[in-house]
Amino acid sequence: MTALQALNSQLRSSSSAWLVTGAAGFIGSNLVEALLRAQQRVVGLDNLSTGYRENLEDVRSSVGEAAWQRFTFIEGDICDLATCQRAAAGVDYVLHQAALGSVPRSLEDPLGTNQSNVSGFLNMLLAARDAGVRRFVYAASSSTYGDHPGLPKVEDEIGRPLSPYAVTKYVNELYAEVFGRCYAMDCIGLRYFNVFGPRQDPGGAYAAVIPRWIEQLLRGEECRINGDGETSRDFCYVDNAVLANLLAATATEPAAANQVFNVAVGDRTTLNELFALIRDQLREGGVSVAHPEPAYNDFREGDVRHSQADIGKARALLGYAPDVSAARGLALTTRWFLARHEQPTAVNQ
Ligand SMILES: NC(=O)c1ccc[n+]([C@@H]2O[C@H](COP(=O)([O-])OP(=O)(O)OC[C@H]3O[C@@H](n4cnc5c(N)ncnc54)[C@H](O)[C@@H]3O)[C@@H](O)[C@H]2O)c1
Repeated sequence: MTALQALNSQLRSSSSAWLVTGAAGFIGSNLVEALLRAQQRVVGLDNLSTGYRENLEDVRSSVGEAAWQRFTFIEGDICDLATCQRAAAGVDYVLHQAALGSVPRSLEDPLGTNQSNVSGFLNMLLAARDAGVRRFVYAASSSTYGDHPGLPKVEDEIGRPLSPYAVTKYVNELYAEVFGRCYAMDCIGLRYFNVFGPRQDPGGAYAAVIPRWIEQLLRGEECRINGDGETSRDFCYVDNAVLANLLAATATEPAAANQVFNVAVGDRTTLNELFALIRDQLREGGVSVAHPEPAYNDFREGDVRHSQADIGKARALLGYAPDVSAARGLALTTRWFLARHEQPTAVNQ
């Protein structure tokens, strides 16, 4: 039994009410799915700016109609306080995922990023505080490490932020800490490192590398790597991030409250290795890959060379032990995209 399955059966013993913001997005929809499978009641809030109704339809078909009856969707914006208050009413736990992701997007639109990621975050904190939720778990980011050179990354050693996006995610941590101190709120931040998996958006200018490359290879296109391909990341399969959220929400260890935790595997994969893994897994799935080697661009300015998390703090205080390695997660992800590619009506397009 995986850690996620064990937690799932533990949750089944009592049904709580959860609010997942960003529910129609990649990580949010995976959280909704896990919670509905664990027989929880879930409210989803999303303005569908980068998320998709199809993601929720995908959850519906995967959990079945009986579980789906326990889900309520609110299409709305976290920039509106009244909407946040409506969504948080009567909720036990908040898993706050709604934000505008992507460093390049924040460089082009710092104001829009700030509105959702800072003002929207503050609205959600206020709404959760006033609703008296038991715990507020929120999506922080490894971008908070900024220019700090240390490897692996440990939570209390951060550098200066390298983008407007990184500023917003750090501000989230500051607000959460202050709400813990000033209003006795119980908040936990999860610094995600390159999360990937089913339902991650492969399209658009700001797509993450894994879904983008899988889709490009499926379409017979060439993939491009910025730099020499020896840049490395701690790629984290989404089930590990779901596990971390559920552990954070239900943690009883007093020292875990009002902390931030790295959420990753604690490993490193270079972009060259990543490309080879995806290509080989698609070939195993019967895809004839038209461009078996990537093309190389110049290094992209501002990209951190290596990123790897120390997950010791989450292990010690949350009992977090990621079940899925990057390679195994990639196999699951390529299989999901392949199946989706073969369907007559593909989602997210
Ligand atoms: N995917 C990663 O590797 C990663 C890494 C670090 C942090 N994060 C954070 O995790 C969270 C989820 O990211 P994701 O990868 O699932 O991205 P995503 O874009 O798939 O999901 C974000 C969701 O939030 C919704 N949203 C955005 N602004 C909103 C607003 N103002 N009101 C209501 N809904 C809004 C979007 O429509 C979308 O459905 C984000 O906070 C992101 O910053 C993700």
